[in-house]
Amino acid sequence: MRSTPIARHLLPDSATVDASGMLCVGGIRLDELADSFGTPLFVYDEDHLRARCREARQAWGDGVAYASKAFLCIAMARLVHQEGLRLDVASEGEMHVAIKAGVPPSSLVLHGNNKSDSEIASALSYGVGRMVVDSFDEIHRIEEIVSKMDGPGRSPQALMVRINPGIEAHTHEYVRTGQADSKFGFSIDNGDALSAARRIIQMKGVELAGLHAHIGSQIFDVGHFEEEVKLLVGLAGELAGDVGAEMGGLPGSGGAGESFGACDPGGFELCIGGGLGVAYLSDESAPTISRWAQAVSQVAGESGGDPRLRITAEPGRAIVAVAGMTLYTVGTVKDIAGIRTYLSVDGGMSDNPRPVLYGSGYEAFLAREAYAERSRRVRIVGEHCESGDIVVADAMVPADVSVGDLLVTPVTGAYGYSMASNYNKVPRPAVVWVSSGGAKVVVRRESLDDMCRLDAG
Ligand SMILES: Cc1ncc(COP(=O)(O)O)c(C=O)c1O
Repeated sequence: MRSTPIARHLLPDSATVDASGMLCVGGIRLDELADSFGTPLFVYDEDHLRARCREARQAWGDGVAYASKAFLCIAMARLVHQEGLRLDVASEGEMHVAIKAGVPPSSLVLHGNNKSDSEIASALSYGVGRMVVDSFDEIHRIEEIVSKMDGPGRSPQALMVRINPGIEAHTHEYVRTGQADSKFGFSIDNGDALSAARRIIQMKGVELAGLHAHIGSQIFDVGHFEEEVKLLVGLAGELAGDVGAEMGGLPGSGGAGESFGACDPGGFELCIGGGLGVAYLSDESAPTISRWAQAVSQVAGESGGDPRLRITAEPGRAIVAVAGMTLYTVGTVKDIAGIRTYLSVDGGMSDNPRPVLYGSGYEAFLAREAYAERSRRVRIVGEHCESGDIVVADAMVPADVSVGDLLVTPVTGAYGYSMASNYNKVPRPAVVWVSSGGAKVVVRRESLDDMCRLDAG
């Protein structure tokens, strides 16, 4: 099992293997990248990132956002904006990075189930494109803060209501968010979703721009998203009268407006969130972004929704995961006869906590013989003081793996660097982007001095 070479679909678009067997990305050999920038190292194929952004823009149209929590730095925020996507930011920190990158506030969508007063106030003063409201407490806070800021000439802040659709997607329970028992959003079933939307419609200084839901992450079955969009379309139908009454026009209500909510010429928005899964293992396959969008849009159309409803999404993982890989150096090979072989690498749970958090599986291969048969079963572990510090629990690698080898784990572009930590005061790796034979550092490697930079005494 898994003794075959690494599957091509787990590698970035530009990956090739040169005559010596070395993997190259963006036209550069991985050993050259390791020599220039050290290991562990995150390497991203910039053209792959751009291609996935374009695919998302093409498939979902105007209004699609990139969920920046999957991977964010200034270069990434700029790239996403250049490619015409909005940016979903879920904290003041993410919002700050996006603004520093020069992304116009109008292209930001602010999320969070516990937004602080200061987060709300900065979002309002920036005038973010959308705030996705998650609770009645938040509505109350927004109302108070808006009333203090409101003045003539201030455009109303566009709000969306985060809906909890009560869908249990088939994915790890920690990344499942749409089930009834959840900290996120307003339940449709108990009527909170409608009440929240109606309350916002009545508020001054804001406008209801749409509904939002996110049912979880790493979901392969588009059927869950189809179910979700049906619920959103149904809820939008129930709200149609209210939106029309307040905003002067609505489909089927005889109102004057051309769009569902006169607040937005692009139409009342129904965002299904992110969550499209990606393949991490050779025998997995995932729907493309285009297929996902096509299936959801078709069901939205068949559900009798007003054609002027704008169906959008905010993928994170599907944009960045396969674009990125991690390079490690093998430091020790320890055989325990009759038990297993441990390969220790120079990183671990501090640069990729997903195996520890979710039991996530990855593949591994050697950069020097990327497409070689992998016949040796090993456990790849990190350098941290925990037995749970596992990079790949059950990996197949070439039989001749040895100390000093450059080992690659593909598909680490999402929720790797963004969830990285300094556990054991291990500096976080650099992030390098490659394209057309060039490499640039977009996030520098942390230094040992960085490990004390916050110490006050
Ligand atoms: C509200 C919201 N939108 C989008 C995403 C992105 O999900 P994914 O990276 O699985 O596409 C998340 C992830 O947690 C989320 O919470």
